[in-house]
Amino acid sequence: MLRTHTCGELRLADASKQVTLCGWVQKTRDKGGMVWIDLRDRYGVTQLIFEEGSTAAEVLEIAKGTGREFVLKASGEVVERYAKNDKIPTGEIEIKVSELEILNEAKTPPFTIENETDGGEELRMKYRYLDLRREEVREKLMLRHKMLQETRSYLSGQSFMEVETPVLIKSTPEGARDFIVPSRVNKGEFYALPQSPQTFKQLLMVSGFDRYFQIVKCFRDEDLRADRQPEFTQIDCEMSFVTREDILEIFEGLTRHLFKAVIDTEVGEFVHMQYDDAIKYYGSDKPDVRFDMKFVELNDLAQNKGFNVFDQAELVVGICAKGCADWTRKQVDALTDFVKRPQIGAKGLVYVKCNADGTFKSSVDKFYSQEDLKAWADKMGAEAGDLILVLSGEADKTRKQLCELRLHMGDLLNLKDPKDFKPLWVLDFPLLEWDEESERYHAMHHPFTSPKLDEIPMLDTEPGKVKANAYDLVINGVEIGGGSIRIHDKETQALMFKHLGFSDEEAREQFGFLMDAFEYGAPPHGGIAFGFDRLCSLFGGSDSIRDFIAFPKNTSARDVMIESPSQIASEQLVELGIDLRVD
Ligand code: AMO
Repeated sequence: MLRTHTCGELRLADASKQVTLCGWVQKTRDKGGMVWIDLRDRYGVTQLIFEEGSTAAEVLEIAKGTGREFVLKASGEVVERYAKNDKIPTGEIEIKVSELEILNEAKTPPFTIENETDGGEELRMKYRYLDLRREEVREKLMLRHKMLQETRSYLSGQSFMEVETPVLIKSTPEGARDFIVPSRVNKGEFYALPQSPQTFKQLLMVSGFDRYFQIVKCFRDEDLRADRQPEFTQIDCEMSFVTREDILEIFEGLTRHLFKAVIDTEVGEFVHMQYDDAIKYYGSDKPDVRFDMKFVELNDLAQNKGFNVFDQAELVVGICAKGCADWTRKQVDALTDFVKRPQIGAKGLVYVKCNADGTFKSSVDKFYSQEDLKAWADKMGAEAGDLILVLSGEADKTRKQLCELRLHMGDLLNLKDPKDFKPLWVLDFPLLEWDEESERYHAMHHPFTSPKLDEIPMLDTEPGKVKANAYDLVINGVEIGGGSIRIHDKETQALMFKHLGFSDEEAREQFGFLMDAFEYGAPPHGGIAFGFDRLCSLFGGSDSIRDFIAFPKNTSARDVMIESPSQIASEQLVELGIDLRVD
């Protein structure tokens, strides 16, 4: 090794040791007769000191010639510092350097490599390898590393076996578009990159592997958001001979283990909530239950009192903001502006202030008496000092709008503590989802999810009402994972494909291999996949998963560092049998 120690390791107890460190120049301070260099590696920063008189002239000369991010090898004695720095663990010592070698020079970096950097997002993405030298970014990848280790150790400890599944496959429907790879050997034919290893993990159950897991890259061509990347990582799992409760229990166990082992946090109860209740009370299938503010429906109290807007609405629904009755006109107007933004699309917002003296002041006083408003307040559990906010309109849309308003209030009232973790299992999702565009049903989870067995007959009569044996793990409003009990017989799978609008031939062509496998002793099975990047960002207290990926794509799905995607040479296209000419 070129070094004896790292830059994060030496302490006062090491004083008088002869050591050699290697690292990058974080900062040089040259005071003429004295030079200090902060030397950094992934473990920390150690101060080097050079002093006219005691340091050899050539060494001092080299020290003076070093610039930011030069790579150095420095040998010398560990000495106690005169002026100690209690902000870093090595702050009590410095190295009195006797030998110094420049291992490599560096151009001046395009931004400062410190936690408080002057580099904008795009610039840091272009030089991601330099951004990764910053402690704050490095720590996030360190967290990811720990999560990977702990996931493997926990699942292996529970007899799960890690099996790798192929990346060049055929379309696996998870609701996004596929990334496609042309085949040179089979011209005119294409592989698809897996949106998930769903079909393979089910085949592994048919093989008898019983408990499978894989930490695996998945690829989905969909619109990007802070919590979505075109390639992302799942903790993917499947189990045989289990009930839903067994799966929930094991993955609650994994989640608890990760919280404890990685960020030393004990999480409370994993609440179970029906999908229908999540929608009714929070307007979302991934409610943030760190705070209450549940929806209360007011149709029975608010309609037929002459207020046309409510009378015509399918749903009148409100939330109660505790202690906000003294909000100013300006503050309430800002809420109205918030819900009227095009992204949210509400037409207006009705408020009721529950005054301290027991009276009510509302934006619809013209239509509602004090008794009417008291009845609203009673139904909502609102007390003197609270503010009631009400939206109305078409039910689905109104719930979504009120969900946004609720989350916004959560922000304004500081109810979303990033260190408070509230896990929630959302259960019994609908099996099918109506798609306006294609005018047919799609699988809400994926086509291999089992319907609730006693509801199968309803597939013919009321398909939209059939529930799936599917579940999501939601933490603090983030969908961390999703899974289901699977169909494991050919007939039910064929029935499902029929209801999804596949002809027998189409089903055979796309999924014949799975249907065949089901004829060779498929065990009952089920599973789940966690979004690993999302889990990391949740643990790290960040909204963006990008920070937890070493080399992420930007919001236009580009890697601006390697400049990908990019055009390819026409010879390559010819070789692949692809003709891009437009006639
Ligand atoms: P699902 O599609 O719900 O289920 O995906 C599982 C989890 O993966 C994460 N996730 C993403 N993370 C980052 N970027 C994306 N583009 C992205 N898309 C999804 C989410 C999600 O909960 N095969 C099934 C699992 C199963 O049934 O066992 C599946 O993939 O956190």
